[in-house]
Amino acid sequence: MGKILGIIGGGQLGMMLTESAKKMPEHISKIIVLDPTENCPAAQVGAEQIVADFKDEKAIQELAEKSDIITYEIESGDSDVLKSVESKAEINPSPETLKMIQDKFLQKTFLSENKIPTPEFIKIGSLDDLQQGLKKFGYPSLLKARRDAYDGRGNFKVDSPEDNQKAFDYFKGQNIMLEKFVPFKMEVSVIAARNTKGQIKTYPLVENIHEHNILRETIAPARVSKEISDKAEEIAKDVMTVLKGAGVFGIEMFVTTDDQIVINEIAPRVHNSGHHTLQSSETSQFEQHIRAILGLELGSVKLLHTTIMYNILGSKDFQGEYHPLEISEKNVFLKMYGKKISKPLRKLGHLNLVANQEESIENLIQKLTGLKEKTHILALK
Ligand SMILES: Nc1ncnc2c1ncn2[C@@H]1O[C@H](COP(=O)(O)OP(=O)(O)O)[C@@H](O)[C@H]1O
Ligand SMILES: [Mg+2]
Repeated sequence: MGKILGIIGGGQLGMMLTESAKKMPEHISKIIVLDPTENCPAAQVGAEQIVADFKDEKAIQELAEKSDIITYEIESGDSDVLKSVESKAEINPSPETLKMIQDKFLQKTFLSENKIPTPEFIKIGSLDDLQQGLKKFGYPSLLKARRDAYDGRGNFKVDSPEDNQKAFDYFKGQNIMLEKFVPFKMEVSVIAARNTKGQIKTYPLVENIHEHNILRETIAPARVSKEISDKAEEIAKDVMTVLKGAGVFGIEMFVTTDDQIVINEIAPRVHNSGHHTLQSSETSQFEQHIRAILGLELGSVKLLHTTIMYNILGSKDFQGEYHPLEISEKNVFLKMYGKKISKPLRKLGHLNLVANQEESIENLIQKLTGLKEKTHILALK
């Protein structure tokens, strides 16, 4: 008999988890998502939905009562509430792991205690702390909100002493930390999985290109030397070994100008930079996550095809219903998330562009340039 899977969050990640879970009927009999948006993306592909806020305690209790196993697509869940329903349903990754990861200061403290390289950082409680910290790290440095940050919105780059007060005031009422600026030549990530029995697998290193602090493109594999990709994979394995939580994790890293790898942050969930696995790999990150939390043997992480993932974002100057996209080209896999309304830079879908045998990344990048024009989001007339 399959288990009932509960997912907190039914956006695109919950949607793709649902689609994978539906292909495993011998293991999962039903999927229920908790999401505030009526008919959310996951509900559109067959998940039952509890319509409620992610932090609604009663709704989380209801989800736990109805589910055998709970996971999440967002890291901002209330870990204490999750902890309190652990007797009703198994939760993976565990509330303890979530609690540590969702606070960037606790996360980096944990990593550095385990000898895993991160940028230098300190906790900031006062303007005086900030001034002391900047004396140590120099300019620029990054002042960061410890919690609930995404798409760069929780970061303030402090460029010179004149910025100190402004930077400090920007985060009024929030817990913050200061980080030394890392001069990097590339942002990369590893999608890593650990199942409930401790088996660990890591997908090959990928390269991430951001625009307006939002992931725009992922190139799989990353254009780095074997030494660098081996080092990154080794660090990712070390992270998974000390983390202990079960599931798929997105580990964001920098390749510094002197070819060192340092960890930027860890997401305790499937990750946008892993969407290429839907076509590039035998096991997608979504199937892998389900295998991991169910304690099944993890699937192959081999990269079968060079692939570029391109995010389809809402146009900057437009909000409203939009014209459906259509692309029918060989080796192009368009995935739209079923969101009715476009908002500036909202993630509406992605496409995977898969290389032919022996086709170079450069060629693929060329092809993508032509495709980008077909992904502009236009108002529905
Ligand atoms: N210490 C750092 N040095 C240089 N750039 C950084 C540093 N920390 C973050 N960044 C840049 O800011 C982006 C967003 O930072 P991140 O901490 O990942 O925030 P978010 O939680 O919003 O994703 C990163 O992808 C990277 O480009
Ligand atoms: Mg980030």
